[in-house]
Amino acid sequence: FPIERIRNFSIIAHIDHGKSTLADRLLEMTGAISHRESREQLLDAMDLERERGITIKAHTVRLVYRAKDGQDYLLNLIDTPGHVDFTYEVSRSLAACEGALLVVDASQGVEAQTIANAYLAIENNVHIIPVINKIDLPGAEVEKTKDEISDAVGVDGDDSLLISAKEGLGVPDVLEAIVKLVPPPVTSPGKMLKALLFDAWFDPFQGAVILVRVFNGRISVGDRFKLFSTQKTHEVLSIGANTPKRISLESLGPGEVGFIVSGIKSVQETRIGDTLVLDSDPSPEPFPGFHEAKPLVFCGLFPTETEQYNELKEALEKLRLNDASFTYELETSLALGFGFRCGFLGLLHMEIIQERLEREFNLTLISTAPTVVYRVKVAGRPDDELSVVNPSDLPPAGQIDEIFEPFITGTLLLPSEFLGPVMSLCQDRRAIQKELKYLDAKRVSLSYEMPLNEIVLDFYDRLKSITKGYASFDYEWLGYRPSILVKVDVLINGEQVDALSFIVHEDKAYNRGKALVEKLKEVIPRQMFEVAIQAAIGSRIIARQTIGAMRKNVLAKCYGGDISRKRKLLEKQKEGKKRMKQIGRVEMPQEAFMAVLRVS
Ligand code: GTP
Repeated sequence: FPIERIRNFSIIAHIDHGKSTLADRLLEMTGAISHRESREQLLDAMDLERERGITIKAHTVRLVYRAKDGQDYLLNLIDTPGHVDFTYEVSRSLAACEGALLVVDASQGVEAQTIANAYLAIENNVHIIPVINKIDLPGAEVEKTKDEISDAVGVDGDDSLLISAKEGLGVPDVLEAIVKLVPPPVTSPGKMLKALLFDAWFDPFQGAVILVRVFNGRISVGDRFKLFSTQKTHEVLSIGANTPKRISLESLGPGEVGFIVSGIKSVQETRIGDTLVLDSDPSPEPFPGFHEAKPLVFCGLFPTETEQYNELKEALEKLRLNDASFTYELETSLALGFGFRCGFLGLLHMEIIQERLEREFNLTLISTAPTVVYRVKVAGRPDDELSVVNPSDLPPAGQIDEIFEPFITGTLLLPSEFLGPVMSLCQDRRAIQKELKYLDAKRVSLSYEMPLNEIVLDFYDRLKSITKGYASFDYEWLGYRPSILVKVDVLINGEQVDALSFIVHEDKAYNRGKALVEKLKEVIPRQMFEVAIQAAIGSRIIARQTIGAMRKNVLAKCYGGDISRKRKLLEKQKEGKKRMKQIGRVEMPQEAFMAVLRVS
């Protein structure tokens, strides 16, 4: 295809606004898939993705479209992941595009992710085509949505295409708009190969497969190329594209998108945003904007059965083959034994990995509450900075010069009737308000600078329940700021349980400690003896609760009468035992380790 007839674009949208449905429809209308296949939503290939209805990994398809001008165009639809945790990946996918369809649900209007994604597109110089979807719904408010797009995104909402992706209405106009409005790729003729790596996955037969967008030059089967960040050289073994069926290609030229198989063993070597150059290039220049995706949220994962440690280790190794963005290292907890401290891009990423470990590898895990990475300047060592990913590793207060905690910029969109409660929630989470804007009489957008450690607690859940699900939230990394933080420890019958320690702002330590011991009292079952639960800062006890000893055997209630009932009770107990961990003499359920999330 001549470069003037190539269009690289992606679809960006808030979750559930219809991105996958529209993508499907585009595939169907260009004949790439049949109507029946489209029902299966080919783009969201992974099971978990389909189940949760969210796109985790970006997939890309190559479509051929005969436009009204009678010419065939090559459309590369670059699918972006749809969640805040993957902002960096979204931004790199957008860097591979010249245009983006910004899909907004007419019955919901602009949401936080609509704005966040639109800004990413603008930062990457991507031409935005506003698309208002679900106009078939009785609740569709097209004019209002147009105004919101103009006000919040800064793109003229009156230019929006009006469609129903579900019914196919208006979709042909979307294809025409892509051809007419998305600029063709630009290239500098004569320059050597420069390609952007914007996705990678692991194939058990081919190793790490990388997805690239060529900007200058050409890459062909047999070429030797170098990845900028690793400076390692690889040979191109094969090139291909998804249509969505896999096809083989001889080479990729300027403006083209495709995948390359090169015998790279693991995705750890394939960094999103990296630059591909020819091995023979004497003065290669990388693309700007590359950085390594760093985990922001950490938690401890421990097998409930000690024997499962090796299985857990193997499962983590396997998952990491396909996901370079999560990390794990051995963690030994006095309370929980051998396990791993794992790092994730965000809370959703954490949930996905935990769920896969349990579901695909049949493990039963105890996870500790998520925490963020603190930076600590240790007294007397001005040049050293410690990264603390595990609260129990925080040095004692006397040895700390200064602590820094991560901050984010949070964007919230909500109906104005919830403004009061949402603002007090944010204030309670130490957030600093930066902006308050009415999009219209009924919708407000808020911008805050907030400490990430207050978000990893149950901020989403609180926000959802306060606003009955009508608020949306998105965030972007801001940086580290000095803070006054302390570690709160928990003691069970005088024994410190390291897995329950948490780091919190000094002003909140007392209340959180108190609430946590109260919560622990609720979730730890009665034992045969009295259990004392204490919260402490250093050696100072700040709260205490006692669980009285169990009086009777549970089975005594059944008087030996109904045997099936008795069996049921035993089975129930066994079931409950699964996620129990013995701390000293005390049996602790999984809920205990997550209790800190419920007390903020
Ligand atoms: P994520 O992958 O989670 O980001 O969601 P998405 O934006 O891809 O949304 P998806 O295409 O999965 O659509 C979400 C829901 O909206 C599905 O139940 C669709 O059937 C429905 N939907 C999509 N387009 C339309 C439309 O034009 N009209 C109506 N009525 N429903 C639609």
